Amino acid sequence: MKLPNFKLERYFAQYEFNVSYLLCASDCESFSIQELLDFEPTATAAFQQQWLGYAESRGGFELRQEIAKLYQHMTPDNILVHVGAQEAIFNFMNVALSANDHVIVHFPCYQSLFEIAQSIGCEVTMWQTKEADNWELSIDFLRANLKQNTKAIVLNCPHNPTGYLLSHDKFGEILALAKQHNLLIFFDEVYRGLEYRAEDRLPSACDVYENAISLGVMSKSYGLAGLRLGWIATKNEDIYQRMASFKDFTTICNSTPSEFLAILALRHQNEIMQRNLGIIRHNLALLNDFFARHEELFTWQSPKAGCIAFPSLKLHLGAEQFCLDLVQQKGVLLLPSNHYDFGNRNFRIGFGRKNMPESLAQLEEFIV
Ligand SMILES: Cc1ncc(COP(=O)(O)O)c(C=O)c1O
Repeated sequence: MKLPNFKLERYFAQYEFNVSYLLCASDCESFSIQELLDFEPTATAAFQQQWLGYAESRGGFELRQEIAKLYQHMTPDNILVHVGAQEAIFNFMNVALSANDHVIVHFPCYQSLFEIAQSIGCEVTMWQTKEADNWELSIDFLRANLKQNTKAIVLNCPHNPTGYLLSHDKFGEILALAKQHNLLIFFDEVYRGLEYRAEDRLPSACDVYENAISLGVMSKSYGLAGLRLGWIATKNEDIYQRMASFKDFTTICNSTPSEFLAILALRHQNEIMQRNLGIIRHNLALLNDFFARHEELFTWQSPKAGCIAFPSLKLHLGAEQFCLDLVQQKGVLLLPSNHYDFGNRNFRIGFGRKNMPESLAQLEEFIV
């Protein structure tokens, strides 16, 4: 298997830790280890006693138990823990897909969601969405593109990079088609929990379809990317067992301090999510005002979930050049859409971090 560069990750490798203002972060504000430990009076002492041997390969029982509580019908046996969401995407595609399988992928998207399938030799159809259609997924497109050899549909909602959220009705239609054609659904739910209205939250795919694999992670909604801890949840025993076996060749097991801290964070998920949604709401109000003030320069669709959006430039200048000028002159990092193989007009903006108002003020100084 030969993989090309992961464009977005190479861009972050170049800039993320060298710029003053990261205005395209894909995650929420993080925590220090001590802040997490302070959630419980006995946690600091317990963390110091944490044993540093190997962890259980599929994730410790207590961790899988906490993760299972995030779902309606999952048990710890349905949860397989990985090193980040990235490992789970890689492992899923390697066990579930073969050359010549056809896969339909929600697009634009995080590159690994189509790239791994492509590098395996799958035929990949991009389920294209457009800004002009509010990034809506078209069910007619899906129906028209199903083939004899279609094996899986790959979805991501709340969506990176557009902030799009499927409606309950559309989700139902996708499920019905998947059931009818016996397709796997790989649903990247790494932003789940960041819906601004609770009633907009979709059920997890794994809770409503036995051939769905839901992807979760501590990185995005919880802001704990440094734990490098993700998981899949599924009732599909065959996929589960094959992924568990494949993992013996990738990471074997997770880091035990990360497992400890993830359990703690999951026990306090309400406090964490409320803090993160508070930051997002505050920042989103500023963004709505900013884009209203500058509607001659940018398009703007205020998202319904998540901490990122994908506006576009109305200028002649391409997004790549705009972002380059911005980072060179002001030290503010935005992410241009060419890194998503999605033209050169859009850019990703992130608003999950506490210092977003300062970054936005720098962007405003740059454009006026
Ligand atoms: C939609 C999506 N899925 C998966 C990942 C990978 O997550 P992790 O960094 O936790 O491995 C990312 C990271 O940016 C993402 O945005």
